[in-house]
Amino acid sequence: MKKLRYGIISASSIVPRFVSALNETKHSLVHAIGSSTLKRSEKLAKKLDIPNAYGSYEEVYTDPEVDVVYIANINDQHFEQIMKALSHKKHVLCEKPMVLTREHAQQAFAFAKEQGVFLMEAQKAAFLPTTNFVKEAIESKKYGELKQIQISASYANRFPDDHWMYQKHQGGALFGSGSYIIETLLVLLDNPSYEYQAMTHLGQSGEIDDVSIQFNFNKDLLVSTHLSTRVHTENVANFYFEQASISINDFWKSRKLRVDYHDNEDHDVMKFPNIPEMVYEINHVYDCIHEGLTESPIMSPEITMNTASLVEEIYKTTV
Ligand SMILES: NC(=O)c1ccc[n+]([C@@H]2O[C@H](COP(=O)([O-])OP(=O)(O)OC[C@H]3O[C@@H](n4cnc5c(N)ncnc54)[C@H](OP(=O)(O)O)[C@@H]3O)[C@@H](O)[C@H]2O)c1
Repeated sequence: MKKLRYGIISASSIVPRFVSALNETKHSLVHAIGSSTLKRSEKLAKKLDIPNAYGSYEEVYTDPEVDVVYIANINDQHFEQIMKALSHKKHVLCEKPMVLTREHAQQAFAFAKEQGVFLMEAQKAAFLPTTNFVKEAIESKKYGELKQIQISASYANRFPDDHWMYQKHQGGALFGSGSYIIETLLVLLDNPSYEYQAMTHLGQSGEIDDVSIQFNFNKDLLVSTHLSTRVHTENVANFYFEQASISINDFWKSRKLRVDYHDNEDHDVMKFPNIPEMVYEINHVYDCIHEGLTESPIMSPEITMNTASLVEEIYKTTV
């Protein structure tokens, strides 16, 4: 199969990381970038060596050389761009959170199927070797049964006050990072049933700047999560098994993890290749498209839809 050519939507700050990951692969490349402002797309195209820069998103969708559209604009504009890209029969990889409601997720996946093209939420955490290591440990029970999980993540004081990340309907801790935690858990536990309780704190713009979600998965596994844009906390995921615990700092992009054994003072540190963390999701997109799939068996529509539902419900009941 010839290399997959990506067209990028928006000149956003995540784009350099995505392009550096694309450049690491042998099967995919960046072909074009479109921005609402031609000057911005030209500037980024020059910096990242992208052959075509457009002053609109439409030009990316109508470029016959573009196979896959990577949507990386702000969260409340994803849905509109997904539908436009799909209407031009482009495959789509859309940044997290892919959409803000379950209904939009359902519509987008149904339309992708109808158009016969691939659609996936860009959830890099789902494809990391560290995530796979934990999943394998859960399934093989090599450290015994998994008995508890604790996760916390934060990014405080990162943006100016008028930044879209503080808009309550699309920013804050829940919309900003909720999908990392929720989708990592759903992928690890094979989209389990759950009950949950959430508590939130609102910031100056009414955005959820602190959220604690307690889950009971499959009526058998208690999971405690905490997300914040209010204050710096530890960024760590801890998985407690009967005989050992696995700890991953920066679990959504980590290249290493630590295993501590309960019956002695020993520990192991596992290190994985030092390559851009988005390479793994891009490899998966290539494999799926190569196989003619319209959806990912790992970052499945159900996982995106269930996450969107949960985030929507927490937002509506607390803001
Ligand atoms: N996977 C990851 O590791 C990761 C990390 C960070 C962010 N993200 C996701 O990536 C997406 C982009 O985030 P980002 O932080 O990179 O975005 P950003 O730098 O703020 O850029 C967002 C882009 O959206 C467009 N835009 C439209 N209305 C805007 C507004 N009111 N304010 C600012 N920009 C506006 C602009 O595109 P034009 O160039 O067309 O004008 C802008 O370049 C989000 O969905 C975010 O959740 C993912």
